[in-house]
Amino acid sequence: MDMKQKLAEAISTACTVAADEIAAAIEVPSNPDMGDFAYPCFKLAKVLRKAPPMIAAEIGEKLVKPDFISEIKIVGAYINFFMDKQFYTKQVLQDVLTQNSDYGKSNMGAGKTIVIDYSSPNIAKPFHVGHLRSTVIGNALYQIHKALGYHCVGINHLGDWGTQFGKLIVAYQKWGSAEAIEKDGIQELMRIYVMFHDAAKENPALDDEARLWFVKMQDGDEEAISLWKWFYQISIREFARVYDMLGVSFDAYTGESFYNDKMAPVVEELRQKGLLVESEGAQIVDLSDANMPPCLIIRKDGGTLYATRDITAALYRKKTYDFDKCIYLTALDQNLHFAQWFEVIHKMGYDWYKNLIHVPFGLVSLESGKLSTRQGNVVLMEDLLHQAIAETKKIIEEKNPGLPDKETVAQKVGIGAVIFNDLYNTRIKDVVFSWERMLNFDGETGPYVQYTHARACSILKKAPDFSMENIDFSKLDDEASLQVCKLLEAFPAKIADAAAKLEPYLLTRHLVAIAQSFNKFYHDNPILSSEATVRQARLAVVMAVKTVLAAGLALLGIDAPEQM
Ligand code: ARG
Repeated sequence: MDMKQKLAEAISTACTVAADEIAAAIEVPSNPDMGDFAYPCFKLAKVLRKAPPMIAAEIGEKLVKPDFISEIKIVGAYINFFMDKQFYTKQVLQDVLTQNSDYGKSNMGAGKTIVIDYSSPNIAKPFHVGHLRSTVIGNALYQIHKALGYHCVGINHLGDWGTQFGKLIVAYQKWGSAEAIEKDGIQELMRIYVMFHDAAKENPALDDEARLWFVKMQDGDEEAISLWKWFYQISIREFARVYDMLGVSFDAYTGESFYNDKMAPVVEELRQKGLLVESEGAQIVDLSDANMPPCLIIRKDGGTLYATRDITAALYRKKTYDFDKCIYLTALDQNLHFAQWFEVIHKMGYDWYKNLIHVPFGLVSLESGKLSTRQGNVVLMEDLLHQAIAETKKIIEEKNPGLPDKETVAQKVGIGAVIFNDLYNTRIKDVVFSWERMLNFDGETGPYVQYTHARACSILKKAPDFSMENIDFSKLDDEASLQVCKLLEAFPAKIADAAAKLEPYLLTRHLVAIAQSFNKFYHDNPILSSEATVRQARLAVVMAVKTVLAAGLALLGIDAPEQM
């Protein structure tokens, strides 16, 4: 039930101004004496050429009172609406309880396809915390759009192609051992890769050798490809562990290598469209008219680039999925890269370049000294997640040592805390890791929302007699109950808003608000010990909150344990 919209429609019928325009002007007064909604008539004065108080009075006379409104008062230029609280709480709670985990879902995206390019780590390199954000935000946007009926295609555009793999082959042949790589995986690949870099500084011939190997890869040379495939498998095995822990999956693992044999026709198309220019032996697309440095397409040595593969991938995706939108989740520092190649697509004459959207985010910073780092300064995702689980376990041991299945709960809460923390602010803000803050069960955190959900579950467990039949909603006449219902009612609109702005934090914060208002409700109102009709009505609130918190957490990619 969208009350603002319904009010706007009622007002619109009474004054013949478009409902959308009216809806945008309807306010929620901060002073409850002024009603639950207020419509100021000032803006209508221009259109209707009358004084605002007169307009208010006239509309007031013609207005047909919607059924969820108990009273309408005209105060000067304002039309104030007072909700019929009983009608309202009943409507909201019934909506939630009948739709259950589908509450908030819609089909506004039906028939539309959104491609989401997220996570996309580079193989043979550690999956570090920098990729956490892309993974977590991308997954949330995937779940949110899916709930709105969009057809979602989640793509892991792995960084699995490029000269660096030529270097790795050389490094392996010079200093590698199959056993060590099988045993230590990416860490060992990284170690020999770093060795290569140090050695190449002294001996540049190594770089030529590496380039040669990459050319062999491009040409499909058997030995080169089989080594590359092996590095790929080793890496994917480790990534899979991380995705498993995070509960994230993809519809396609079409990384950069997938486009190896698809770039030539695209380069040819660029040439035919007169967009390729030679510059110092390289092939570029000039972007000076868009005030950007040129987009490098082919290197002097004939090698293709990151941008070449992105352009090819975009054309492939358009052809394969006919997307309405294709979004890319990477850190802010890739802004220029995306702006450049989006402009190349524009210059190629493809109107849909407008539907390519870079969705950037800020950096991850670490509260110094609090996180274990293995090599150098990278923090591995896996280590971070394990640490989150271990820290959570400590808290559980302290708070609730008798909890059954502590290990699973610690996983859900620890990882949930990491995800929630990442999604708590607008994307562009940097994320700081602080265990103390992230795991604070009383803070604005994942564990707090999960704990509130578990509290609701535990109340319901003690009331097996609860049923939705014959609830007397007039028993929910206190402010706290009403506040909870208002927030539950706003939940579907928050999901839509998060999708429209590509900002999961709008949903994250709303869940915190629901949890807070529920805890106030719980504090103010005895539930299980109340008289039977009051108890039933309050249990309906508990049930609805439980349902919405679990649904909301799921949209963020977070589990909601029943006990913690
Ligand atoms: N592999 C890249 C990185 O780690 C991210 C790829 C993002 N997606 C894309 N289509 N460029 O920085």
